[in-house]
Amino acid sequence: MTKKYHIGQKEERHLYNTCQWAWEMIGTVEDYRQLSDYVIDRIKEHQSLQTHSVLHLGCGSGCMDFHMKKHVAITGVDLSENMLRSAAKKNPECEYILGDMRELCIDNRFDAVIIPESIDYMRTEEEIVNVFTNAKNMLKQDGLLLVVVGYDPEFFPQNRTTVDQVDDKHTELTFIENNYAPDPDGNYFEATFVFLARQAGRLKTIIDIHTLGLFDRETWAGQMKKAGFDVRLIQDPGLEAIEQKGSFLLVGKNL
Ligand SMILES: C[S@@+](CC[C@H](N)C(=O)[O-])C[C@H]1O[C@@H](n2cnc3c(N)ncnc32)[C@H](O)[C@@H]1O
Repeated sequence: MTKKYHIGQKEERHLYNTCQWAWEMIGTVEDYRQLSDYVIDRIKEHQSLQTHSVLHLGCGSGCMDFHMKKHVAITGVDLSENMLRSAAKKNPECEYILGDMRELCIDNRFDAVIIPESIDYMRTEEEIVNVFTNAKNMLKQDGLLLVVVGYDPEFFPQNRTTVDQVDDKHTELTFIENNYAPDPDGNYFEATFVFLARQAGRLKTIIDIHTLGLFDRETWAGQMKKAGFDVRLIQDPGLEAIEQKGSFLLVGKNL
């Protein structure tokens, strides 16, 4: 992996790396069933090709792949080795590649490329267009790019805090998430995660701050068009019910 894009000290993203064990507790296969079915249905709805091969960018620990692999052959890509290790364990029949979607280019051509829950990590318009251009280069002619954008500035849940509590044999985990956009004119927000993990009676506290991009719909659609796609932007209450208010779908056809 090259170091072209700097992930600063504030952005070690413990959740996907040193604290990946916490992700295993809060991001389960069952939690991802609905989004997986939704993505497969939208591919069927919008795809003109028969879809056999799908490239999943930002595949994480393979929770969605676990469901989607019943319908299509999956190749997953992620920045985090720990997430990929977990994905490969869940889905030995899928292929996994360590890589950065902003720079990735592999020789294969896929029927569809999907980015269901990670595109919000793009911080600049240049990063967005690079991801979409790379996706185009890995798609067959008439292939489909399907992107779920999680956050829209108009509906941003400023200062929303959620709390989850889960436990397994070894750990009682309280997981707090806060979303906050510090600059009203800025194209970014912070997702702050606090983990309170009690193991064998001892409390461990971890704070993890992720910085994510926040762009309006026209910017997303414009960057996809610039990368050479015929673009449809779809606002769907069905998707909002699975993700959150303001999330939307971008569907690009590789011209
Ligand atoms: C919320 S998780 C996705 C979970 C996934 N949908 C699943 O089925 O388990 C977001 C993932 O995006 C990955 N990610 C963020 N930026 C990335 C990039 N530039 N290239 C590749 N993966 C990236 C993170 O490492 C993380 O695993």
